Amino acid sequence: MSNDIEVLCGKVAQIAVSTGEFLKIQQAKLHRSDIEFKGVRNYVTHIDKEAEQQLVKELGALLPEASFLTEEGTVEYQKERYTWIIDPLDGTTNYIHGDKPFSVSIGLKEDDKIILGIVYDPVAEEMFSATGKDTAQLNGKPISVSNHPSLNNGYIGFGIPYSLDEKGEQILKNAFAQFRQCSFRIKGSAAIEICSVAMGRSDAYFHSGLSPWDVAAGSFILKCAGGTCTDFSGGENYLFGKELVASNGAIHREILQGIITTL
Ligand code: IPD
Ligand code: CA
Ligand code: CA
Ligand code: CA
Repeated sequence: MSNDIEVLCGKVAQIAVSTGEFLKIQQAKLHRSDIEFKGVRNYVTHIDKEAEQQLVKELGALLPEASFLTEEGTVEYQKERYTWIIDPLDGTTNYIHGDKPFSVSIGLKEDDKIILGIVYDPVAEEMFSATGKDTAQLNGKPISVSNHPSLNNGYIGFGIPYSLDEKGEQILKNAFAQFRQCSFRIKGSAAIEICSVAMGRSDAYFHSGLSPWDVAAGSFILKCAGGTCTDFSGGENYLFGKELVASNGAIHREILQGIITTL
């Protein structure tokens, strides 16, 4: 890659801001007839697709040798050394209800490793970014995870997958059993939830059924901020494995043992 990664990150952030502005403007004009369904409570709009096409065009110009892996599939995935992993609108359910948060999520993968992450919340005007160890930032200022060590008094995000198998249901029951000691939140944008852990606003987040575009940028930002990401077995397969536990590290084992383990 001929681009300096920091310079590239700045340009990607600008692109995310312009897509975020587009999303904000379009949200105010949204009509019921704009809403389509991919499945029960799984919404999409032409705005998701237009935002994606805009990102593909601008990121493609920035790094012509990179391919794309995107939620709306407006461009076909091809295996290349570099891949942009994009969710043009993370939080569509909030978005179509005129609610917030929602975000633009852009990760850049080199071979098997993410090397750049941008998550932009256009309503809060919060830009999360990272390019490597100790580089995670919120609006240009360094961020790091909380040091809260236990489920007791934890502030913990989660999401409910579109299709819930027995294991997923058991995990939600396990979480419910902890409601006397933790404060649970569902914010509705996986990318923002993971970045909330990265900047110490929340202590952990878990979700099954997520896709690479929900996780790529946020998980990289979290790791650069000193946090921990694993699949439900504590392993590394969280990008494509549809299981994510993201935490400040200190609380990670307790989340795995107290909520995720379904034995
Ligand atoms: C969704 C959001 C939501 C999560 C869903 C995702 P989308 O992404 O991240 O928080 O619970 O599983 O699919 O569809 O709004 O981009
Ligand atoms: Ca979606
Ligand atoms: Ca998403
Ligand atoms: Ca999306």
